[in-house]
Amino acid sequence: MTTQNTVREAGILGTGHYVPEKVLTNRDFEKILDTTDEWIYSRTGMKERRIAAPEQATSDLCIEAGRRAIEDSGLQPDQIGLIIVATVTPDHLVPATAPIVQHALGCVNSGAFDVEAACSGFVTGLSVAQGLIGNGTLDNVLVIGGECMSRILDYEDRASCILFGDGSGAAVVSSTATRGRILQSFVGADGSGSHTMQVMAGGSRRPADIAAVQEKMHLLTIKGNDVFKFAVSTFRRLLEQQMRDFDFGPDGLGLVVPHQVNYRIIESALKKLDIPEEKIFMNLEKYGNTSGASVGIALDEAIRQKRPQEGQYLSLIAFGAGLTWASALLRW
Ligand SMILES: CC(C)(COP(=O)(O)OP(=O)(O)OC[C@H]1O[C@@H](n2cnc3c(N)ncnc32)[C@H](O)[C@@H]1OP(=O)(O)O)[C@@H](O)C(=O)NCCC(=O)NCCS
Repeated sequence: MTTQNTVREAGILGTGHYVPEKVLTNRDFEKILDTTDEWIYSRTGMKERRIAAPEQATSDLCIEAGRRAIEDSGLQPDQIGLIIVATVTPDHLVPATAPIVQHALGCVNSGAFDVEAACSGFVTGLSVAQGLIGNGTLDNVLVIGGECMSRILDYEDRASCILFGDGSGAAVVSSTATRGRILQSFVGADGSGSHTMQVMAGGSRRPADIAAVQEKMHLLTIKGNDVFKFAVSTFRRLLEQQMRDFDFGPDGLGLVVPHQVNYRIIESALKKLDIPEEKIFMNLEKYGNTSGASVGIALDEAIRQKRPQEGQYLSLIAFGAGLTWASALLRW
């Protein structure tokens, strides 16, 4: 599904992010797992990640990031017409997390729903927002990616638990924004790869009964090597498509804010595309992979560091469980 040439323009009016205070370092993992700081850093680029406090749920992280994004936008909460929360770790199966966030933020004129597109969730939300603003249905949409990944990780599985962290990133997408115009967005999927990253129990196919929990089926499993190959080729393909569709090369590209999955994945794709390292924004050293939150957090940090400069092409690219992928090309 591609959304482009819409009637009205949609851009980024404000952004914000929130990460919990607790830091879990690679050295902390050395105490509980057969692993080393050196192994984790050299294979992933990650040094530490944030972990939500026991009393915090995903909505709490989203509320804070959403509040910051609304403040940054200069809008009042009652001017938001829709809140989209992208998450694989909702507070509950029912209700969705977005209405909880909507109520807490006082967005009394807003609809609210969740998007479950895993690590592609935040960029998928931006694409939905672009479409609804473009066709005149809405003026202002708050897109939030938020995750408590620590709640679905198996901390005895060294191949998966070291990869993820908790956090939330948000953006107000608006018809009145003068920067960050979304020129094109794209979402895609290939469900034949649905087995590569899964939480098996807790849904309608396998409720989380005692046996399922004993077998840890309520926790995340990943086939890291399969995902690695998919991630490299998808990242490359989506970026190439943007450059082709808008007729620019590595020199014309301003900045890429990719899903913060693994430094080696991004590096490998960039080398093939001949794009220099300084054109990529990475923060996974501090936060690990925060799934649906990762592009939202990175986008907010990149903007605050004045990384995308006026007039530049800003590329957002994400991919993850499903398998799913999403991209957006913005003019900053
Ligand atoms: C997970 C990932 C870092 C593994 O890196 P890798 O270089 O491919 O490593 P491999 O999976 O080939 O494992 C190599 C060895 O390291 C071991 N290993 C795995 N995790 C380890 C850890 N934390 N510490 C030490 N050794 C570890 C494996 O058991 C394996 O040992 P073996 O050869 O004796 O079987 C990498 O594949 C990756 O990032 N994949 C994508 C991650 C992902 O799915 N993210 C979410 C999707 S958006």
